[in-house]
Amino acid sequence: MSTSSPQHGPDAKGAVALAVALIVIWTSLINIRQSGFFYHAESSQEQYDVPESVFIKEAMNVEFPAPIDYKSIQDICTRNPSNFQPGLLFSCEEQHGGIGMIRNEVLKCIRYAIHGGGALVIPSMSKRNPKDITDIETTVEVPLEYLFERETFVEHLTKGCPGMLLYDRAEDFPNYAQRQREPIHLLGGQFEGEYPRTGLRYPRQWRGFFDSWLNEQQIRLSPETPVHIKIEQSFLEYPVHDDGDAFSRDFGKILSFRKDTQALAAKVLFEMKRQFALPIDPTKAVNPNAFYGAHLRLEKDAVEAWDPEEWRYSRMEDQFQQQFQNLVQTGLSVVYVASGNQTVVDLFAAYLERRLAADSGSGLAKDGVRNRNVTVVTKYDLLQGDDRRQLEKMTFDQQALVDFLIMFKASAFMGVAHSSFPWTVALRRHELSRYANYANLGSDLLKDEYSTIMGMRADYPYVDPFEYGIWP
Ligand SMILES: *[C@@H]1O[C@H](CO)[C@@H](O)[C@H](O)[C@H]1NC(C)=O
Ligand SMILES: *[C@@H]1O[C@H](CO)[C@@H](O)[C@H](O)[C@H]1NC(C)=O
Repeated sequence: MSTSSPQHGPDAKGAVALAVALIVIWTSLINIRQSGFFYHAESSQEQYDVPESVFIKEAMNVEFPAPIDYKSIQDICTRNPSNFQPGLLFSCEEQHGGIGMIRNEVLKCIRYAIHGGGALVIPSMSKRNPKDITDIETTVEVPLEYLFERETFVEHLTKGCPGMLLYDRAEDFPNYAQRQREPIHLLGGQFEGEYPRTGLRYPRQWRGFFDSWLNEQQIRLSPETPVHIKIEQSFLEYPVHDDGDAFSRDFGKILSFRKDTQALAAKVLFEMKRQFALPIDPTKAVNPNAFYGAHLRLEKDAVEAWDPEEWRYSRMEDQFQQQFQNLVQTGLSVVYVASGNQTVVDLFAAYLERRLAADSGSGLAKDGVRNRNVTVVTKYDLLQGDDRRQLEKMTFDQQALVDFLIMFKASAFMGVAHSSFPWTVALRRHELSRYANYANLGSDLLKDEYSTIMGMRADYPYVDPFEYGIWP
């Protein structure tokens, strides 16, 4: 209709102009917000008061401590254009341990699959026995999403490593039924035999070793008759820094924790802010002057694995004391405890109270902790109603993910040197540090502005080479 078009013209223009104006206003609001107009650390509490739903969303959107950068992963994955070859499939099942260990085992398996240039079955793991938490090597196999985000994993790995094809099950691999033989088991470190504490000496020759090993077994790769290699669990042998700092920083980010645990962690953070009026900006990785994160590794499985007779920091008193001393130095008064054992948390709270009372009048008083009340909290205290029920339905290891995420964001963090959990937290937080080295500020383990691994090397019978073998 000819009459309508002239009328439409100006209307459409008007709408476009209005939309443009709105976008301009909207983006300038975002800019104001980002420049800290609404969020100013030093000033009063109200400025952090965003509605709960906004807080939760923003807290969940912060990829800790910075979003994944695919570039460094792509550089490694595409370094050799003919790296990936058809007819070769890797998998890694039965990874077991706590979250720190499983996460690293999965990453290591993928790192070997990149070297080998094969496709990958999306990793799975053994489920810890819920009736006995010391029983980790079970035959109950659970999929990746038991602890991690499956879709995000596929997206991250596909973008970082476009040549690597992913399969839900080995049987989905082309011509899997015509495979040359049953899956062949491989230990990532087996080609080097002995290697030093710092890990494999020749990680860049892994592919060469692997190709010779296939040759020795008269295995020729062919898309018609594929080969399936199962990577077995092995401990901290891969020197993660060999791929450069950028890769070692970003690679671990291909695995993010389950969305529901991220939502619960965001809720915990919100509750801490609300109940104690803490200066927590959800868009920040770490907020200063907010809360102290204490990881207490005193659950039954830990005390059994590291005999307190020999392992000083497997003793409750020694672990508590280190935490207390560190806490006093930070001057923080809200203590979030990450622990899988509520009895331990209660004992710790009582210990702190005792120490604070006993030490009043001593030199510690000036640090100001005593004048404020120190409050010990856990996820169980902070989550109520449906959230609490959701948490309680989760298993020991799934619940630990909530603690893990909260520890990332603590103003100060401390844990022991014999567990991979605190090392993973501290190493990831180290990305924010202005110090290049881990051992700093009077520690020969790890101490920076954000985290402390307690004690000195000499306080432990030995310290596993976490700083060489864990992707933060
Ligand atoms: C929790 O800690 C207490 C005190 O150390 C201990 O007696 C108990 O066995 C622990 N339970 C678990 C499941 O770790
Ligand atoms: C600590 O908290 C308790 C209970 O909230 C209160 O009775 C007490 O006066 C507080 N002490 C100090 C020193 O603020």
